[in-house]
Amino acid sequence: MEFQALHGLQAVISWITAPTGFVILGFLGVSSHRLYFIRGEHHMKAPLYVILWILVTVLIASITCVVDVAADTHGSGEAIIGIIRTVILVNCAFFLPLFVSVASYRLFEHALQEFPGPRLAAVSKIWHLSNIFKTKNYILLEDLHKRYGSIVRTGPQELTIIHPDILGVIGGHGSSCIKSAAYDIHRPFISLNTIRTKQGYASRRKRWDDALGLSTPYIPDKETRIQLFLSLFIHQIQASAGRSVNMTTWFSHFAFDVMTDFAFGRSFNLIENLNPNSKLHDAPALLSRGMSMQHYFMPVPWIGVLCIKAAPYIPIMSWEWNNALKWAADMCDVRLEQDKSAGVDHREDAFSRFTTSARRDKDEDSLDLLALYGDAFAFAVAGSHTTAVVLTMLFYELARRPELQERARREAILAGVSAASGDGQLNIENNNTAVAWDKLQFLDGCINETLRLYPVVPTGGNRQTVEKPVKVGETWIPPQTIIVAPRWSIGRLESAFEEPQEFIPERWTTKPHMVKNPRAFSPFANGRHMCPGKQLGLLEVRMAAAMILVNFEFSLDPGKENQTRVVDQLEDSFTANPGELEIVFKPLT
Ligand code: HEM
Repeated sequence: MEFQALHGLQAVISWITAPTGFVILGFLGVSSHRLYFIRGEHHMKAPLYVILWILVTVLIASITCVVDVAADTHGSGEAIIGIIRTVILVNCAFFLPLFVSVASYRLFEHALQEFPGPRLAAVSKIWHLSNIFKTKNYILLEDLHKRYGSIVRTGPQELTIIHPDILGVIGGHGSSCIKSAAYDIHRPFISLNTIRTKQGYASRRKRWDDALGLSTPYIPDKETRIQLFLSLFIHQIQASAGRSVNMTTWFSHFAFDVMTDFAFGRSFNLIENLNPNSKLHDAPALLSRGMSMQHYFMPVPWIGVLCIKAAPYIPIMSWEWNNALKWAADMCDVRLEQDKSAGVDHREDAFSRFTTSARRDKDEDSLDLLALYGDAFAFAVAGSHTTAVVLTMLFYELARRPELQERARREAILAGVSAASGDGQLNIENNNTAVAWDKLQFLDGCINETLRLYPVVPTGGNRQTVEKPVKVGETWIPPQTIIVAPRWSIGRLESAFEEPQEFIPERWTTKPHMVKNPRAFSPFANGRHMCPGKQLGLLEVRMAAAMILVNFEFSLDPGKENQTRVVDQLEDSFTANPGELEIVFKPLT
């Protein structure tokens, strides 16, 4: 019996390493592509495929080993070489024909074969990944645009489209496009922004609208709370006046305190501890490092899924991303505990409005723990990182353009924005709450220019066509195509803006002809997935900018050699991540 089994194993090994075995393995490889891999999405199954591959490889190695030991034909060194040889031969026999089939299909048969772009990009997204190790994604896509035109094939199934209409086509009301597979890397967390299709979206959106107070006319203390943090912030700037401060860090701390207070009713008191030597605090730093992994995960989601799954076993892979998600989950757990503790009278916050709204409408999906964790993460990143980036880039432009700074300041003073008292403290009882923040037109022009030239989401926000094609200009985009629409490049299109590289706030006020095609400007996205935090984000940016402007003059630190590193070192981590911005403030009173 044992002899028969051994004989059987020997036959298997001889068969798979003989020409007939190779042909059959090759046939299986090609069939797996043509009949299986070519259909549907596979990125979430990447870990399963790797496990299967490891199991089959171990099985083949074990059989070869058993056969060799039983036959005792080789020394141990030769046996090991024999095992390795068998494993390599079997893998080559299966995978080489599979890869050839994949490459030839993508190059010569695919619906996107007519679109221009680098040939290797058409074969595999690994091309894209290898390039963004060398350069930033928004620079790479801009270069490709210059070389190949407005529609470039940047992946087997992907087009990058730099056209004024594209943001409306993929996101406008009635668009049939859905979010691309890249959003799945947040799983198992399911936040508002990772719900890819219409199903389940509307009810979650309602929770967000309630949490942000969009369904009610007014959240009473929203402005007062922001003023409270601003008062402290202005006091800190006053205390550091005349010295160089890294406003990238300072604005991160400000936005983080405002967000955690608004969302979770808790402040980390980061503003209180600011000084000219401040380094980014652990919490925002953790989120920022986590988001930086998206630079690599977004273009090739299956690699992202693999790294995230492997992180507990191979810690170096994506641990930053997992840690950032864990931070949000912990934050959420603490907040849930507070809700449970008897006698705790918690001030109303976005979290309580969210859960109250879900309970009222019996929306169990939104109350699921993984959904709450996901939305807590979305709140933390989307709610703070975004406003911090806008403020940083706005202050970069204003700091190097004293004339624009002065115009924005005069406008704010005329609108009644109050200055701080001698010690830098604002009187919270003053009438700043009566200022119509959305009537500061010149400041809004500056904010729009900032959003156009330094979009908070420079290249992300990928969508995909479903079974229907979509039309962009005169071109039809086939079904099942991933569409990348980089705001970084679209905001700089000659066809949409006059003097597109220049910071000209008047194009949004007195010189509307300088915006040739307003559809090219969509900094908060549009349609179903339009940013729910738009009003809150803009309020925070307008208030902070106006109140700092009426209190200080500021300029880029003349002592720093590289004053443009805030732009030069801007990373594309789905959200933008600017370099350091060193500014010197001079009090006006
Ligand atoms: C000025 C600041 C802001 C800018 C420029 C901005 C921009 C954007 C953009 C471009 C998107 C679309 C992203 C995509 O396509 O995946 C988006 C989505 C989103 N934003 Fe904002 N945002 C800002 C502030 C905020 C704030 C303060 C919050 C929360 C308090 C927030 C929460 C969200 C959420 C939850 C989504 C996902 C919506 C969905 O997918 O349906 N944002 N934002």
